[in-house]
Amino acid sequence: MSQLVVEERACIGCGRCQIACPMGVIVCGENGIAGADETNAEVCIHCGQCVAACPAGAISLEAPTDAELLEELADYGIDPLPARPGDQEPAEPGPFPTPEQFDSLVRARRTIRDYRVEPVGHDVIEHLVHQVLTFAPTGHNIRGLKTVVVEGRERIDQLTDLSIPYFAQLAQDPSCHSFDRKVFARIVSAWRANRIDRVFRTGHQAMFTYCSTSIPPREPAVLLNLAYFQLAALTRGIGTAWAGYFMIVANEPPIKQFLGVSPGESIHGAVIFGYPRWSFPRTPARPDIPLRYLSAHQEENR
Ligand SMILES: Cc1cc2nc3c(=O)[nH]c(=O)nc-3n(C[C@H](O)[C@H](O)[C@H](O)COP(=O)(O)O)c2cc1C
Repeated sequence: MSQLVVEERACIGCGRCQIACPMGVIVCGENGIAGADETNAEVCIHCGQCVAACPAGAISLEAPTDAELLEELADYGIDPLPARPGDQEPAEPGPFPTPEQFDSLVRARRTIRDYRVEPVGHDVIEHLVHQVLTFAPTGHNIRGLKTVVVEGRERIDQLTDLSIPYFAQLAQDPSCHSFDRKVFARIVSAWRANRIDRVFRTGHQAMFTYCSTSIPPREPAVLLNLAYFQLAALTRGIGTAWAGYFMIVANEPPIKQFLGVSPGESIHGAVIFGYPRWSFPRTPARPDIPLRYLSAHQEENR
């Protein structure tokens, strides 16, 4: 149930909360004063959009009790986490990166496949996970994503060792595309012959994001989460690479067990990270993304 409280005397009747609420829980009356629609309150997803949007600070959203959360989220198999202090503080006014800074951040990101041994500190990892990734969007504001970081070449090697037999099988699997079979065979032979790791490259740290299999829109949520991680990491000089090959075998039982992921959970993203051994002096050319508009203007011109 919604724990939404509108302080009517403070409400200025701007209606922003009604527009911001994704679930139609807030309805402004004829006088514009906001109120929670009792019949819709049960679909409140506690996203805090109403609180964040209100210019008058008239709305507060009490964190549901653990019992209420448990009841609501049990179907999704999520361990509820209490809201943290500060969640309803005024939004940070910035400073934000300028458009030019953001654009160059995106353009400068390269997949890094060669890493220094020096690890990214836990303080940095924890800041990124708790202060940045926590704010990435999830469908229905369900949250529930979990992260495990594997550290040190010894552990990464163990994970590669666990993956190789599956790649060996896939290299022989006629249902796989012939190009993929070649790639899988190369992964296997490079590791077996020379301990060259084409799965985790020369990484010493990798982040794996997983969640309960009952969370409905989980793949896009994980991909967004790790995309945020890639960009936020880059601002700290940390390079990243999607471990897409690993994802092909990530949910094999021994691998899940190694990563401490339970049978009711599945892994949806893996990113290698660390300090790059060298930097890229040039930006590669990219084919343009075709762009079309389907607008009223175009309709009129038909
Ligand atoms: C979903 C996904 C999976 C990927 N998997 C791998 C991978 O397993 N190994 C790897 O070295 N790079 C992987 N990459 C990196 C791509 O090869 C890389 O993004 C692409 O070649 C463009 O290079 P750039 O990232 O430097 O712009 C993956 C990228 C994506 C988006």
